[in-house]
Amino acid sequence: MRNINEDTITQAVLASMSQCADERLRTIMTSLVQHLHSFAREVKLTEDEWFKAIQFLTDVGHITDDKRQEFILLSDTLGLSMLVTSQNNRKPAACTESTVFGPFFVEDAPEYDCGDDIANGAKGESCFVRGRVVGIDGEPVAGALLDVWQSDEDGFYDVQQKGGGGHEHRARGKLRTGADGSFHFRSILAEAYPIPHDGPVGKMLAATGRHPWRPAHLHFMIQAPGYETLITHVFRNGDQYLDSDVVFGVRSTLIGDWIEHAPGVAPDGSWMERPFYTLDYDFVLNRE
Ligand code: BEZ
Ligand code: FE
Repeated sequence: MRNINEDTITQAVLASMSQCADERLRTIMTSLVQHLHSFAREVKLTEDEWFKAIQFLTDVGHITDDKRQEFILLSDTLGLSMLVTSQNNRKPAACTESTVFGPFFVEDAPEYDCGDDIANGAKGESCFVRGRVVGIDGEPVAGALLDVWQSDEDGFYDVQQKGGGGHEHRARGKLRTGADGSFHFRSILAEAYPIPHDGPVGKMLAATGRHPWRPAHLHFMIQAPGYETLITHVFRNGDQYLDSDVVFGVRSTLIGDWIEHAPGVAPDGSWMERPFYTLDYDFVLNRE
């Protein structure tokens, strides 16, 4: 393998991997090298541009730690996360669609009973959420485990709070559906927020003329035996970013109506001094 030139390099790299024992790995690496080389040829990549890309990926690595996952943000903003989500979650039209997971889920969220306030002190207008989890034939899914998480009115998740506040779980929790598949809880109104954009991904967005905003949404992960796990959001109707979500996650079927109510009696019977919101949204799970 000598005197390799720009015409023979691709084949030489592919041949070097021909002994790879893991067939799936060989398939992936072969395709990756072919596409990477085609890309470099197509754009006639210069040495300077190649080095800038190396610096960019180095910066993405340097800012990444156990709280900040810049590689996932990069995947999200390049549409790769949504592509992988879509092609791995094809299901019958009647089922609730999936969307991106995002980086702000935590495993050990507190457990609540239906009716509880999961805001736990997070700032925002009060919101009462209710709905049902059903299967594709309309059967109620009793005992389904719901993980719910959202940002506060300033657009920050609890895990992003500086100064230690991030260890307290706010505006997130686990709930179970009742015998009729229903759930309800109190939280705060979802607001639009920018994804973290003070790092290399933010620079990439600015350089390519893009904004960093996500439309207001509430995250759900729903798990129940015999059904596929659903990872999705409910987006807020009327949000100005529904058609330009920076991570390409919006589906029309996932847009819900948050209804504003004047001060008065809330769905849980409490008296609200301030305006409050309600959201009703049902989820349909696919069979496993
Ligand atoms: C989120 O919705 O939490 C999210 C998704 C992708 C990137 C950043 C945030
Ligand atoms: Fe989010």
